Amino acid sequence: MSALSLHKRIEENTGLLIFGILFVSSIGGLVQILPVLNQESLQEPTANTKPYTAVELTGRDIYIREGCSVCHSQQIRPLIAEVERYGPYSRAGEFVYDRPFLWGSKRTGPDLHRIGGKFSDDWHRVHLIDPRAVVPESIMPGYPWLASRDASQTGDIVAKMQALSTLGHPYTQEQIDAAESDLEGLLEIDALIVYLQMLGTGLDEEIIR
Ligand code: HEC
Repeated sequence: MSALSLHKRIEENTGLLIFGILFVSSIGGLVQILPVLNQESLQEPTANTKPYTAVELTGRDIYIREGCSVCHSQQIRPLIAEVERYGPYSRAGEFVYDRPFLWGSKRTGPDLHRIGGKFSDDWHRVHLIDPRAVVPESIMPGYPWLASRDASQTGDIVAKMQALSTLGHPYTQEQIDAAESDLEGLLEIDALIVYLQMLGTGLDEEIIR
């Protein structure tokens, strides 16, 4: 069969044409995806990236529950304008313990990936309860209820850590056993602030330019 008649057959047979399109585009997909699955720099945690502690994990759950990622991204792109504004761009290895990841896709507010250490705990406390008390022009909603809810009631932290261990997060049995007492006496706002303060601290000092 000549190349021309093969081409004609494919063009005249919709099923064959669809198969051909899928076949060719899947080669493109595999060429992009397969090497990445084996690329170590994308799977190895960066120097200071550790599994979330019980308190950080609870803070992260509150962040998810309250929809913070609707307005805030957690990924700094390797562009000068972003690095100047937010700090070192995000590395894949900083997200190995993020399940689910919270990269976000919308920036109504600033990116939060390097928010850790930028403000004091007290600033966050006031800002979360009433953003306009510290940033008069802010359009961020307040979250006053976080200051009256018990962090130990947020979710089943032990079950959550056990589930994450089965996925390969290296928790020790001591950490899991201590999880509930770690949350004792903390309010939800405290756990959320602990989480915010550790965000973006996963890089080795040397990389931070
Ligand atoms: C409706 C959109 C919206 C939502 C939802 C939202 N924010 Fe914001 N956030 C903003 C805007 C706009 C700003 C900038 C003004 C300001 O600082 O208040 C901001 C600022 C911030 C800042 C200061 C960032 C900086 O670098 O100055 C932090 C921290 C923050 N938000 C945390 C949170 C957390 C935590 C939640 C969820 C509990 C949340 N935000 C939910 C819009 C939002």
